[in-house]
Amino acid sequence: MKYNFDKVHDRINDPYSYSMKYALHHEYKSDMIKNMGERMGYKDGKVPDDTLTFFLADMDFDIAPAIVEACRKAADFPNYGYTGANKAYYEAVKRWFHVHFDWDFDIDDIIEYHGTHPGVADAVKKLTRPGAGVIVFTPSYGFDNDITPLGRKFVGIDFIEHPDHSFTVDWEAFEKAAEDKNNEALIIVQPHNPLGFCYTVEEMQRIADICRRNGVYMIADMVHLDIARKGVHPVPLAKAVGPEMVVSLTGLAKTFNIAGLSVSNMIIQDPKLKEKLSRGFSGFSPFGVAAATAAYTQCDDWVEELNQYIDSLVDYACDFISKNFKKLKVNRPEASYVLYLDFRGYGLTSQQLDERICGKAHLVLSNGAQFGGGHQPELWRRMCLTSPMADVKEALNRLKDAFADLEK
Ligand SMILES: Cc1ncc(COP(=O)(O)O)c(C=O)c1O
Repeated sequence: MKYNFDKVHDRINDPYSYSMKYALHHEYKSDMIKNMGERMGYKDGKVPDDTLTFFLADMDFDIAPAIVEACRKAADFPNYGYTGANKAYYEAVKRWFHVHFDWDFDIDDIIEYHGTHPGVADAVKKLTRPGAGVIVFTPSYGFDNDITPLGRKFVGIDFIEHPDHSFTVDWEAFEKAAEDKNNEALIIVQPHNPLGFCYTVEEMQRIADICRRNGVYMIADMVHLDIARKGVHPVPLAKAVGPEMVVSLTGLAKTFNIAGLSVSNMIIQDPKLKEKLSRGFSGFSPFGVAAATAAYTQCDDWVEELNQYIDSLVDYACDFISKNFKKLKVNRPEASYVLYLDFRGYGLTSQQLDERICGKAHLVLSNGAQFGGGHQPELWRRMCLTSPMADVKEALNRLKDAFADLEK
């Protein structure tokens, strides 16, 4: 491999790290960090020193050298005034999706955003009326904080769980929700977080058909699109179903691990939607523009190797779990680096799980309660495989020890 994903920098102690994920390890914690730690099972957000952290979709690996170089050049230009995207930026975005997804759009179809969340929230605000319902398939990465403060209603439709632990859309419930005139938009996450599957073209066409028949806009959050397991090719929603009534959000935060630079793009090819969603102030920094342009033009090989490394993490973790646990269940994700761990088989409460995961194993995983859904989500934990192999191995060994007495 050209890039080394095993060797990482010290994100806890380096004074220039500013890592939110590792703020839990610091003595001073803002209220937000304390709350976050509490949600993950640690009282007052306090974690033991040897804690290993897997709750955030934020990779520990060094980013691609071409991005660091671009940021260095941007840093050398001694003016950090209000910043906008330029033609090279838009061309770079267009290039990436053409090359990797055979998805073509014009540079005028791109609206830059300082994050996927702001893009989703803006689409909800501009496409739906106050009081309207927004449909989300659950469990799901959280959008309540985008939808509810805007005065819209979160309408969760639980996925159907199958005996082989796969999940699919509850078509009947979805169709009923789409027919309800109060519901005006659907947020669809492709590939799915936390379940890790990709919607097939056929599923997306069925979703689009239901939405279009009922005048429901589709807002596709595709921030995890580039991270996929070997042989899996997630298809962008607009590529699968065409542009009508579709707003696409793409991001660089996950793919290139540059969440701290806040760069995302909304793609709209439907002229009627363009009238409703126009370009505003991006909130970009020079570093974000430089980084994104380099990422989308010079880092194809880095992403390829990253995916190979994540393949090895996912293979290792899934094999380890199936060999060493009888009651812990997990689906091998098709995309992203999320493992959604099902602890229901132990017959423990959420607090009892925390006593083992936090108290014994010293791991920070996300409590499934934050993703909702009707499958006892508080008994699931999300583990992001975003750390070097040595840490993943150590974490799984600790988890095995923490549950060993219940496996007999
Ligand atoms: C599905 C999904 N959407 C959005 C985000 C946040 O993206 P951004 O930082 O670009 O707002 C995440 C982060 O984990 C995510 O998983």
